[in-house]
Amino acid sequence: MQRGAWRSNTGFLLAAIGSAVGLGNIWRFSYLAYKNGGGSFLIPYAIALFSVGIPIMILEFAIGHKMRSSAPRAMGRVHREWEWLGWWPVIFVGFGIALYYVVVIGWFGLYMMYSARAMFGGDLPWAGNPEVFFQQTFLNLSDAPFELGSVQPAILGATAFFWFAMWFICLRQVDKGVERACRVFMPLLVILTTTLVIWGLTLDGAREGVRQYLTPDWTKLGEVQVWRDAFGQIFFSLSIGFGIMIAYASYLPEKTNLVRNAMITACVNCAYSVFAGLAVFSALGFMAHKKGVGIDEVAAAGPGLCFVVYPEIIASLPALNGLFGFLFFLTLVLAGVTSAISIIEAFTSAVIDKFHWGRPAVVSTTCIVGFLGSSMFTTGAGLLWLDIVDHFLNNYGLIVVGLLECLLIVWYYRIEKLHFHLSDASEGGYSRAWDMTWEWCIKFVAPMVLVVILCWSVYEDFRTPYGGYPVQALLVLGMGWLMGTFLVSGIFSTFSKEPIGDGE
Ligand code: TRP
Repeated sequence: MQRGAWRSNTGFLLAAIGSAVGLGNIWRFSYLAYKNGGGSFLIPYAIALFSVGIPIMILEFAIGHKMRSSAPRAMGRVHREWEWLGWWPVIFVGFGIALYYVVVIGWFGLYMMYSARAMFGGDLPWAGNPEVFFQQTFLNLSDAPFELGSVQPAILGATAFFWFAMWFICLRQVDKGVERACRVFMPLLVILTTTLVIWGLTLDGAREGVRQYLTPDWTKLGEVQVWRDAFGQIFFSLSIGFGIMIAYASYLPEKTNLVRNAMITACVNCAYSVFAGLAVFSALGFMAHKKGVGIDEVAAAGPGLCFVVYPEIIASLPALNGLFGFLFFLTLVLAGVTSAISIIEAFTSAVIDKFHWGRPAVVSTTCIVGFLGSSMFTTGAGLLWLDIVDHFLNNYGLIVVGLLECLLIVWYYRIEKLHFHLSDASEGGYSRAWDMTWEWCIKFVAPMVLVVILCWSVYEDFRTPYGGYPVQALLVLGMGWLMGTFLVSGIFSTFSKEPIGDGE
């Protein structure tokens, strides 16, 4: 069967950046930065980017491009016993991370609708107290993970709508679906974000917020929480360890500068996060100024941060609140959709590569199952489930996948071979000095750093249960999700329809 292909390198870059830049850059990055003290988060974040993020992104591009396949078949070609390492991430991302991710897109979509209504003279529903509105009226948040409460119909509807939109985009081959969507959405995103940052910086108190954001607090660097959040965030934000970048690189033409593409994707993504952080911290500074309290006291740190901070400023703007709110939430929705479609693409191409089923059937089944899974996060306990599942899948799932990818290539494939492929594909547009650094990172730096982070994280989780949740909930939702998807990936990789060569 003919594999899809990107129409141009720019199209590929837009799609890779479209996958990387998502809710993670604004919603997740900002609550992690806030939780970990602002400036002190940026140091581990930068270390994670250079020691692990960029090298692994190059590695994933190289694997996908060399093997011309989606993650499972590519891993299977590296070593036939390791095909599961390709299935596991696409399954736990597609049927784990994506499930709550789409629900969060739905929340933003609803906030966008509320703002639109305010543009035409209605009231903003959160006026008065955004935090109370978000937690009580909007989410109907319950007290414990197993007190589900009832499904929130509006959220369920929004979630269904976004699964439908993604189904519609992914039904087509990459150049007509994903590529076209990203070409339109990504430039729009840049314009909207810039507007918001400029607007945020002019608010009273913004300067204090930005100062807190950009001043490092060295004492925090001794806490494991800061480090694992930074590494987890780098994986999440760059979409590495997802199997996505492997699939995307497989649609590239034979000659292409993979290293440059990886550098551009990673740098644009992180610059975008840091840039968008300016808006969030300006907003926090504004709230602190208004309430007369410290920046660390203005809002509850956690996945609800964006839904409290932004509505608060939007409501207190002198004019055009509806319009600004609408633009902001639209930005997030677009950023989220271009990311979420990337996992559907990665999972779909994996299934098509292996079972040769038709694209429409695979995409439709994925979206229906995805929607059913997502609906579990639309109950009153949804936010709590999200927090737990997110912690385990990112801080363990993605990091283990990244670590194993490095080890697998170094042990079974010889990194030199992949290396040769990189320079061959980029036809000399490639420097030797960078080359050696990369090899060294994949062989030593990344594996060592990741092992330390993992061990430290396990130790910490045993000492104090994550987020103060009951241990049972952590075991069932967190470990259960990791183990369950692991088993399914094992089952998927046992069906072998074609002999797998070694990629030669
Ligand atoms: N990198 C994205 C972000 O920062 C996250 C992401 C990419 C994602 N692809 C995804 C999340 C697929 C869920 C499903 O937001």
